[in-house]
Amino acid sequence: MKIQFTVNKKKYSLDVSPMTRLLDALRNNLGLTGAKEGCGEGECGACSVIVDGEVVNSCLIPVCQVQKSTIKTVEGLSSGENLTVLQESFTRFGGAQCGICTPGILLATQNFLDLWKKKKGGKVPGEAEIREALAGNLCRCTGYTKIFLSVKKALRNTPRPERN
Ligand code: FES
Ligand code: FES
Repeated sequence: MKIQFTVNKKKYSLDVSPMTRLLDALRNNLGLTGAKEGCGEGECGACSVIVDGEVVNSCLIPVCQVQKSTIKTVEGLSSGENLTVLQESFTRFGGAQCGICTPGILLATQNFLDLWKKKKGGKVPGEAEIREALAGNLCRCTGYTKIFLSVKKALRNTPRPERN
C-alpha cells in the first residue's frame, strides 16, 4: 500500500504493509531513529512523535492511519546544528541522561508549550501543568527532577515556538 505523508516538512510516499507500525516506518524506512522503542506497548512514551499536532505513541499506530498526515519527529525540532532553547536546556541542566526517553520528552514538552502559548499567551505554565503534560513519558534515569528543571530553565529563556 502506498502511504503518503509529510515528516519534518518533507513529503514521503512509502510502499509498505498498511499495518507496519509508524515507529518502524520512521526508523527502518526513513532512517529517522530519534523515536525509540521502549515498551512497545503504549506505556512509556519513548516512541512519541507529533501527528497533526498531537503527541502519539508511534509503536501503537499502523502507518495506514497516518495517510496524508503531517508528522514531526525529534529530528525536526532543531534547525541543523542549531538546537532549540528547550534542547539546549536539557543538555545544560541534565534533563537527558541515557537519552532513551529524551526525544519523546522533548517533543511532548515542545508541543505542550506551543499549545499553551496559543491558549494562554505569555502566562508561564507551573510545574503541575508541566508534570501533567509529561505524564505519558517515563524516564528511568533522571528521577524527573532534572527534566522539570530543564523545562523551567528553558521557560525563563522563552522557548522558541514550534517551527511550521
Ligand atoms: S515504545 Fe511506544 S509507548 Fe513505549
Ligand atoms: S534519560 Fe534515560 S530513560 Fe530518561
